[in-house]
Amino acid sequence: MKKNIILIGFMGIGKGTTARAYAEKYHCFNIDTDDLIESKTNKRVKEIFEEEGEKKFRKLEEECAKWIESSVNHTFISCGGGFYNVKNLKKLGTVILLDASYDWIYNRLSTADNAKAKLKKRPLFSEPKKAKKLYKEREKAYKKIADVIIDVENKDIKNIIKEIHKGSYI
Ligand code: S3P
Repeated sequence: MKKNIILIGFMGIGKGTTARAYAEKYHCFNIDTDDLIESKTNKRVKEIFEEEGEKKFRKLEEECAKWIESSVNHTFISCGGGFYNVKNLKKLGTVILLDASYDWIYNRLSTADNAKAKLKKRPLFSEPKKAKKLYKEREKAYKKIADVIIDVENKDIKNIIKEIHKGSYI
């Protein structure tokens, strides 16, 4: 079994923030699947969606997952919100879900300092109504595939990373 943390959850729940805080506190490397895809294609996620479509992006996520399986260990990996769907997810490490209600996530995103940029870079968050529908569609699947579920609503980031670290997953 691979010793990676595979952090999944809905857009804007704070996967990247959690990964960076964990890596700083516990001195490990962290990578992000969207960043990997952007570096491989030299395009922003938003551009890939606009120019090549969502299907192409999902294909890139599959390629990224294959590379993680063959080449990455002892790493904290934050994933794009749809990455939970890759075929080999469970082979990549311990799957940890960050969980919160849609309203809490929307509020977190829309009240952030750089809220506009945060919403703009996420093509699937351009319309809140559609994003809420997507949340509802994915809610059960996220929970089903996760090995560990962490409720992050109104929880301090320090406690979230402590809770993850307790499991010694990487
Ligand atoms: C997506 C989430 C995004 C990014 C892409 C698609 C999704 O990542 O991968 O826009 O399908 O939920 P974040 O969860 O980091 O926003």
